[in-house]
Amino acid sequence: MTVWTATDDGFADLSSHDVFANGTPHNTFERLRRDDPANWQEWSGGDGFWNLTRHADVWTANKNPQIFSSARGIRMEDQSYEEYLARRTFQETDAPEHTASRRKLFAAFSKPMMAKFEDQIREICVEILDRVLEEDSFDATRMIARELPMRMLGRVIGTPDKDLPWLVDKGDALMANTDPDFTDHVMDKLTTSDFRMMPFNSPAGAELYSYAQKLMEDKEASGDTNGVLHMIRQPDEDGNVISESEFRNFFCLLVAAGNDTTRYSLAGGIQALCGQPELIDQLHAGGEIWDRMADEVIRWATPATYFRRTATQDTELHGKTIREGDKVMLWFASANRDPNIFKDPMRVDLTRRPNQHMSFGQGGPHVCLGMWLAKLEVRVLFEEFVKRVSKVEFDGEYQFLRSNFVGGIKKLPVRITRRQRD
Ligand code: HEM
Repeated sequence: MTVWTATDDGFADLSSHDVFANGTPHNTFERLRRDDPANWQEWSGGDGFWNLTRHADVWTANKNPQIFSSARGIRMEDQSYEEYLARRTFQETDAPEHTASRRKLFAAFSKPMMAKFEDQIREICVEILDRVLEEDSFDATRMIARELPMRMLGRVIGTPDKDLPWLVDKGDALMANTDPDFTDHVMDKLTTSDFRMMPFNSPAGAELYSYAQKLMEDKEASGDTNGVLHMIRQPDEDGNVISESEFRNFFCLLVAAGNDTTRYSLAGGIQALCGQPELIDQLHAGGEIWDRMADEVIRWATPATYFRRTATQDTELHGKTIREGDKVMLWFASANRDPNIFKDPMRVDLTRRPNQHMSFGQGGPHVCLGMWLAKLEVRVLFEEFVKRVSKVEFDGEYQFLRSNFVGGIKKLPVRITRRQRD
């Protein structure tokens, strides 16, 4: 089994979560990049949409929010204005509103601020690995990749450790709202829209709303002003404060975005070590490779497969007219495999330089706030992993998440060979 085989026939329906349950349809992306880079797709689930698949186009659209706006929704599904208002966070806004919210949070998520977490991350990695690696075979997603981001998120947002498993279950129900392994309310199979005012159309959103409200009240009562939750509630330069509903939605965004994406990057990295066994020796040899490994692993995994924009004016692209109001999918999963930018893109190359991947939405105003935390977690986890493991192999079939929005391996059975410690 190799890690780079795509199984789709080159004509996959990009709106279908079932397609992605068999892995990212890279053959389809390859065809679209080559033959139809501004591809219009009709959709039975809502309004049709454009698919942008070339790195250059995704990059340019992402950089131009005045034409490709985030303020009308960021997922494929259509939303009424009422739903948009009820569910939005600053991620679904454009400048100047977006800039003002982001300014408040930037320092809390900056590279130097995140670097302060390195010792804690290492401590958690060592604890997880020393426990899990006592077994020869295990599910690497569940036992390793799921654990680290969950615990770190708790530290960053300041939630009690005892609540973390519950929070992560709810976060999964939001992000993986199309996979029956993670939610009873599979979004594309629902016959009602009872939860249309909740984040991700999910009842878990309601539970997270109540939790966020209570957490904030407790923090205010105890005078706890630490962390990002306090920062986002501070007035901006014009004295505006975010509403209660925006605050609750921001909390849901962190619980959802801060967990799954890092988890599936870690799982993707372990999958790559199984499929390309030379990587583990390269990492163990150490050196400069560590400066680049997190970016390459995250490029290769691309957990956020796309984000949507909406055209604010008619725009010509590759001889076609994208009309004002049209939905436009920026397929990061395809941009990250564009051979015009990445040599041998289907392989993990730990020496890749430069690495202009777009996994974090680079180039645009919404570039991931959690990027430095995620990269640090990936590097430290693998540093500790290769100290302890000399070989890791597939131990059964791995399974992909049923989602066209979050790309990830939800089950990764592996068998390890422990390294003789020096
Ligand atoms: C490997 C892990 C991660 C990946 C691949 C990832 C991916 C992304 C992407 C692609 C965006 C841009 C969305 C857009 O263009 O609309 C984004 C935004 C965001 N991410 Fe991440 N993310 C990761 C980890 C995290 C973590 C750990 C956190 C928080 C602790 C986080 C919080 C956010 C927030 C708050 C935004 C919204 C920023 C804005 O709209 O200005 N992410 N992320």
